Amino acid sequence: MRRFQGKVAIVTGAGSGIGQGIAERLGCEGAKVIVDYVGSPEGAKQTEEAIEKAGGEGKIVQADVTRINDVECLVDTAWQQFGSADILVNNAGVEKKSEFWETTEADYDLVMSVNLRGPFFLTQAFVRRLRDAKRPGRIVNISSVHEDMVFPGFASYCCSKGGLRMLMRDLAVELGPLGITINNVAPGAIATPINKSLLEDKPKLNALLKNIPLGRMGTPEDVAGMVAYLASDDAAYVTGSTFVIDGGLMRNYKEQ
Ligand code: BGC
Repeated sequence: MRRFQGKVAIVTGAGSGIGQGIAERLGCEGAKVIVDYVGSPEGAKQTEEAIEKAGGEGKIVQADVTRINDVECLVDTAWQQFGSADILVNNAGVEKKSEFWETTEADYDLVMSVNLRGPFFLTQAFVRRLRDAKRPGRIVNISSVHEDMVFPGFASYCCSKGGLRMLMRDLAVELGPLGITINNVAPGAIATPINKSLLEDKPKLNALLKNIPLGRMGTPEDVAGMVAYLASDDAAYVTGSTFVIDGGLMRNYKEQ
């Protein structure tokens, strides 16, 4: 199925994990994809190759979502290269574990800048162009079950994701009249590099798996299916909501 033929998508953090899965899915379904990464280019190259193998088109852009010039460059590149930017997936994210009383200013600033400030200003740049061109659009934020649920040891992460939830709710109202929808996808425990230490700690992993009613970690593909739905025509009347993809974890949470 090529649901996104003629559409252009920007996916941040598309060089690994959930972002890679989303970029590949949208690309394989026909979207032209701006593959954003920061750091190592190998993952982004893999993403681009997977899209091209499926007959799609990708364009790798190195952009740090915490920098205004970089987020503007992402949107400008989409318009220059592909003629528009119809779908924005704010996926890039980081987490830092520490007791609340040990959390450093630098860690707090990094988590908030990548997870909340980045989506705020990238969405602003994305919306400005659509508003000027009088075109509709789709925004999907990759949030977390922790936009709603506590995560002891990760207070800054919870702040960022809780903020992303309210940003999404507010923008659903502000952007609706422009024909732009915005929703959050809230993954639970997904097997990706952000969970590296958990995946390597067998007792901790087994304890977590016991709390997941579906009995396994999620995959980037599990998340990508929901993002593709929200970016598609089927979701034309869907805005202002969070969609949880967690194998039932949120109804049964005990991670520590
Ligand atoms: C975090 C993971 C955590 C999962 C479930 C995610 O948002 O990134 O570290 O395991 O939520 O608690």
